[in-house]
Amino acid sequence: MMRTDFCGELRLSDVEKKVSLCGWVSHYREHGEHLVFVDLRDRSGIVQCVVDASIQLRVEHVLLVHGTVKRRPTGTENPTLPTGEIEVTDCEISVLSESDPIPFVLSEYTGTDEALRLKYRFLDLRRPRLYANLALRAKAISALRSSMERQGFMEVETPLLWTPTPEGAREFTVPSRLNPGSFYVLPQSPQLAKQLLMVAGIDRYYQVAKCLRDEDLRADRQFEFTQLDLEASFVTDLDIREIVTSAVADCFYQVAELGAGCDISWDTMTWETAIDTYGTDKPDLRYNIKLLDLTDLFLRLEVRALKAPRVKAIKIPFEMFDDATTVAGGRTSGPTRSWLDALTEKAKSFGAKGLAWFKVTSEGLDSPLSKFISSDDSHAIIDATGAKSGDLLLAVADEWKIACQVLGRLRMEIISNLEAPVKVKTETSTNPTPYRFVWVVDFPMFEGTDDTGNLVSAHHPFTMPHPDDLDKIADDPLSVRSLAYDLVLNGWELGSGSIRIHRIDIQKRIFKALGISDEQAKERFGFLLEAFRYGAPPHGGFAIGLDRFIALLTGSSSIRDVIAFPKTQSGIDPMTGAPKPLSEKALTELGIKLRS
Ligand code: AMO
Repeated sequence: MMRTDFCGELRLSDVEKKVSLCGWVSHYREHGEHLVFVDLRDRSGIVQCVVDASIQLRVEHVLLVHGTVKRRPTGTENPTLPTGEIEVTDCEISVLSESDPIPFVLSEYTGTDEALRLKYRFLDLRRPRLYANLALRAKAISALRSSMERQGFMEVETPLLWTPTPEGAREFTVPSRLNPGSFYVLPQSPQLAKQLLMVAGIDRYYQVAKCLRDEDLRADRQFEFTQLDLEASFVTDLDIREIVTSAVADCFYQVAELGAGCDISWDTMTWETAIDTYGTDKPDLRYNIKLLDLTDLFLRLEVRALKAPRVKAIKIPFEMFDDATTVAGGRTSGPTRSWLDALTEKAKSFGAKGLAWFKVTSEGLDSPLSKFISSDDSHAIIDATGAKSGDLLLAVADEWKIACQVLGRLRMEIISNLEAPVKVKTETSTNPTPYRFVWVVDFPMFEGTDDTGNLVSAHHPFTMPHPDDLDKIADDPLSVRSLAYDLVLNGWELGSGSIRIHRIDIQKRIFKALGISDEQAKERFGFLLEAFRYGAPPHGGFAIGLDRFIALLTGSSSIRDVIAFPKTQSGIDPMTGAPKPLSEKALTELGIKLRS
C-alpha cells in the first residue's frame, strides 16, 4: 500500500507516528516564505500538512506525503475538524498527479448549477456529503441483504433483456441485432420473473434489482433506479409486511448513525382511512393536521357554496402562522387576503370548484361566506372543528375523493411552506428527523376507467382481489379492494407489493374486467399463464425503492443525491452526453431506419 493511514482518521494518539498519506489538495495557505499549510483530503476527511514552500501546488493535485504527526501548537487547534488537534510536519511531498483548474468550487454550499455538477460528477462526488451518501447507501444495502438472508431469502438475478409487462410505466426498448425488427424491453421491475421463480419452487427470492422506466423525471424518480425486490410463497399479506418491516428495522439499527434512540414509529391504516384522514395514499404522519368531515353540518346549514355530496375541511392552527412567515400574514395579523386568494387558486388547480376559508376570531367566523351563516351556526362550525381564535379553517365541497385529495395537497403545501411545521409534529421529539412509517393496506383493485371505458388496475393485473370482494368484480368493480399494500415514510411512497393471483379462474375474471381478451392475455403474458398451469403456489411480494429510502435516511431532497451517476431532469447525462444519435452503420446493423 502507498499509504499507512487515512487523513481523516489521525488523532492525538498518533502523535510522533511516521505516516504516509495519499490524497487531494483541498486547500492551501502560504505562511511566510518557507511554509505552506496544505489541507490534504481523502475519503475519510482532511488533515493539515505543513509543507516546504518550494513545491508548486494547486487545488486538487494528488499528493503522496511522508511526515510525522505532531500535536498542533496551543491556540492553533481547529475544533471544527476531527483531526484539528494534530498536524503532519516534516513533510516530504511527491505530486502523483496534477489537476487542471477545477470548473467549480468543491465546498459544500456553493450554488453550482446541477447540470455543471453532473458534467463533472467525478469532482462533485469528492464533496464529503455526496461521499457520505454513497457510503450510507452501501451500508444500508448490505444491512438489507443480511436481513433478507437471515429471513431465509436467496438472491437470484433476473434478466435485463426482457419482454413488455403490463405494470403501468412506459418501457425502454432495445433492438435485437440478431433478430432484425424484434425488440427486447428493459424490465420495469422483476415482477413477472419473480413470480416465475415462485412457480419454480424458489420459495423466498430477493434481489437488489435495477429497474428501468421511461417516465418523466422528478426529485423522486429516475429512469434507472434500484429496488430491494422480494417474493415469497405460502404467505399472507401480513407475513410479507412483517418480513419487510423486519428488514427495514434491521437496516435502521445497523446503519450506525441512526441506531438505537432513533425516533421511529410504525402505523397501519386502510387506503380509505388514509384518503379520508390525510387526503392522500402517502400520508406524512409527522404532522398532526387531519381532514375533518363537515358534511352533516353543512347539510343542515344549507350554505349554497358548500352544497355537495361531501364537505371536508382542515384546520390550520394559528401557531403555524409564524410571525416570520410574512407571506402568509404572520401570526398576529393572521393570514392575508392575497395569501388566501393564492391558496384558492391552488385548490382550483388541484381540481376543486372553489375553496371556502374561515378565519376564527373571538367574535366568530370571518369569511366571504359569513353573511350566509348565522352567529349560532358559526359557533356550531367552531365547536365541530374544535377551532380556537386565530386558527384558519379551509373547506372543500365535492365528491368524497376530490374533496379529500384537494385538501390533502393543500395540507402538504401549507406544511412545507409555512415556517413552523415543527410545532405541529405529532409528538415532541429530541430527534430532528422522526421517521413515521405507515403501511397503507386494502388498496382498491381498480383506480378508474381509461378513455375506452375499460377498468385500469390500481397496482397491476396480477394482484389478488380481497377475498371478501370477489363477488363484486362483475357488478361493482370500483368498490373491490385488493390485497395490495404500500409502505410510506414521511409522505414518500417507499415501496409497494401485493399477494398475487395464482388461480387461472380468478385471473380470467380480472382480465375480463380489465377488457383484456384471452388472445391479448396469451400474446402479452402467455408465458406466465402457461407457468400457472403447472402448480403455482400462493405467493406475494414487495419492492422497496432503495433510492428513495436512502434519500430519506440521508436527509436528501432528491434521489439524484444518493445515486453516483444520475440523469438530469430532462433525462440527459451531461458527463457522457448520453443519449446520443447512432451512426448510420450502427443503425443499418440493427435494421433501423429513422423516420426523419
Ligand atoms: P412499484 O411500481 O410500486 O412496484 O415500485 C416499487 C417502488 O419502487 C420505487 N420507484 C421508483 N424509484 C425511483 N424512480 C422511479 N422511476 C421509480 N418508480 C418506482 C418506489 C416504488 O414504491 N413490481 C412491483 C412491486 C411488487 O408488487 O412486488 C413494483 O415495481 O419507491
